[in-house]
Amino acid sequence: GAGKIAVLRALPGSASRLLADSGATVVTSPLDRPLNRDELHVMVAGASGIVATLTDHIDGSVVAAAGGTLQVVANVAAGYDNIDVSALNAAGVTVTNTPDVLTAATADFTLALILAATRRLIEADQLVRSGVLWEWSPSFLVGNGLEGKRLGIVGLGNIGQAVAHRARAFGMEIVHSSRRHQREPGSKLVSFEELLQTSDVITLHCPLTSATRHLIGEQAIAQMKAGVCLINTGRGQLIDEDALTRALEEGRIGSAGLDVFENEPRIDARLRALPNVVLAPHIGSATSEARSAMADLAAKNVMAVLRGEEPLTPVRNDAQGHR
Ligand code: DGY
Repeated sequence: GAGKIAVLRALPGSASRLLADSGATVVTSPLDRPLNRDELHVMVAGASGIVATLTDHIDGSVVAAAGGTLQVVANVAAGYDNIDVSALNAAGVTVTNTPDVLTAATADFTLALILAATRRLIEADQLVRSGVLWEWSPSFLVGNGLEGKRLGIVGLGNIGQAVAHRARAFGMEIVHSSRRHQREPGSKLVSFEELLQTSDVITLHCPLTSATRHLIGEQAIAQMKAGVCLINTGRGQLIDEDALTRALEEGRIGSAGLDVFENEPRIDARLRALPNVVLAPHIGSATSEARSAMADLAAKNVMAVLRGEEPLTPVRNDAQGHR
């Protein structure tokens, strides 16, 4: 058989069956929550493959706890900032992620946040639910339109491009600041500064690395247009959340749509108290279609490596500085 495969969170769809059919001994965590460090180390002992999620911090200590048998760690996520890729690669362990299969789901959700934030959908919903007697008036719950507005996409990878495609249908003009990815024909490349200074809506789709941590802080916020809408479906640590909260409180940033947070799942009470933010609990890829496909892809990656084949979607430590 293929040895032991440690699955750190129960997987949706057919992924567990795929793994079991490969002849491996599949050990799935029975706990419906993230494992702590000790639990993680116990779970991976003797494993040749690990299926991890973004709440699992996978570093050299996990390789050591596996005890020399470990060949592959398959993250059930596109992002992999939870994994010390260089330490694992140095130990001969392959790391894989799940790009592409969640692109549509995450791009859809990004548009949902843009629309909800600019049209004040959560405020509107809360008002109606409160039972208060409201009256239509010309200025009642007025938001901002998207047509003719400029969308600044930070990180024009697969998800950024899918967001561009969707936003264009709403009549938005698209700019981006990614020199590495220029495949999206209708998006104009501008400097990061110009993107900040001219965009009406800014959305973040770059990976979290040492270079992008707090990419959006006081300095960046100071350059933004008054009343800008800021969207984050990437990673919370791309934004200095304290600086964002202040800017939202002072109205310098008009609204925000946030699916990810700096210290997930803890969110500052000041941020939670603001009416002009839409807050979601990291559900950008949470469609049944995407989640099944992510789990299947992770399972296929594990099985490929354990068969001695190339994985479908390997992660490589690249010059961009992924950890
Ligand atoms: C990812 O894939 O990186 C998301 O955070 C979870 O889908």
